[in-house]
Amino acid sequence: MIIDNYNRIHNYLRISLTDNCNLRCFYCMPEEDYVFTPASRLMQADEIEALGKTFVDLGVNKIRLTGGEPLVRKDAADIILRLAKLKVNLTLTTNATRLHEFADALKEANVHSLNISLDTLQSDKFTLITRRDQFKLVYDNIQMMVKNNFHVKVNMVVMKGLNENEIIDFVEWTKYEPVHVRFIEFMPFTGNKWTSNKVFTWQQMLKVIEEKYSFIPLENDKHDTAKAYTVPGHAGTFAIISTMSAPFCSGCNRMRLTADGKLKNCLFSKEETDLLSAFRRGEDVTPLIHQSIRSKAKELGGQFTTDFEHLHAEDINNRSMITIGG
Ligand code: GTP
Ligand code: 5AD
Ligand code: SF4
Repeated sequence: MIIDNYNRIHNYLRISLTDNCNLRCFYCMPEEDYVFTPASRLMQADEIEALGKTFVDLGVNKIRLTGGEPLVRKDAADIILRLAKLKVNLTLTTNATRLHEFADALKEANVHSLNISLDTLQSDKFTLITRRDQFKLVYDNIQMMVKNNFHVKVNMVVMKGLNENEIIDFVEWTKYEPVHVRFIEFMPFTGNKWTSNKVFTWQQMLKVIEEKYSFIPLENDKHDTAKAYTVPGHAGTFAIISTMSAPFCSGCNRMRLTADGKLKNCLFSKEETDLLSAFRRGEDVTPLIHQSIRSKAKELGGQFTTDFEHLHAEDINNRSMITIGG
């Protein structure tokens, strides 16, 4: 069992397969000439499988694959099928652009649920945010996965002045389609142009939604990042991820393995533990995992508080989002 100093049991591992992506979302990827990590420095498929197994032996029962975009990695299907052999709930977070190529592999690997990033329902705005003209492909792939009975959660990062005026459109989408939309408060990461005045909070979102709909809260699991709601009669649900205004760290069960094999004990951790180098030297990584999690901060990597109005993104010591994977 992996347990930290606040008695939180860590049984959920997020593995980033690559920091590469085929979209260029400004809030995720630093603008200056970003150089993707060369393949030799990334964990190889057999290393991911072996490290994954070590975590499963220590009690991990859920693995989420992230990126960058996990499905741009050439051996993504192979990695998915290798991890599917472990006794875990396997899932992934994706931008959906490659899902049409992966639907069969995902079924074969017993993946039932997907988290998909989509910040706008407007094609022009999609191009503005992602710098790629691929709205239709993403939207069609989401519909295709829903039709194929995958449980689809749609991640919409709400940024004031950019897309908060689409919150109602996203809730309306849940009327006829069983999609589970999650509105996410904009979070600060290296190079992502975060300023506190772009944060649209949980309370502000609820205020917008209640002008049009009556909704009721759903029961949450103590490890959930999202507070979920249902509009009676709608096929899908909506939820809010309130990291900035109301963090949910007390129930945290998450660890992150970056694509270059570093363990982060928190999304906002400063420190990282290099598991891949130790593994390549033939060392047992188990003590390193325990040490890392024991040094985990109580909340938000110990780097900020809910008083985010006075926060400056450059004061946070972290990676860029594209190299963490969310
Ligand atoms: P599940 O609960 O497994 O569905 O995953 P998730 O919703 O946490 O993961 P996903 O990759 O879809 O991320 C959705 C949003 O939640 C992103 O903005 C993530 O950065 C954020 N997020 C994921 N994990 C954490 C976490 O441990 N802490 C915080 N504060 N935010 C997180
Ligand atoms: N703030 C909040 N969420 C973010 N994501 C990426 N960058 C940010 C940010 N700055 C979300 C994406 C993706 C998930 C992994 O993280 O929407 O779905
Ligand atoms: Fe866990 Fe850190 Fe996320 Fe809080 S911010 S829920 S401690 S990973």
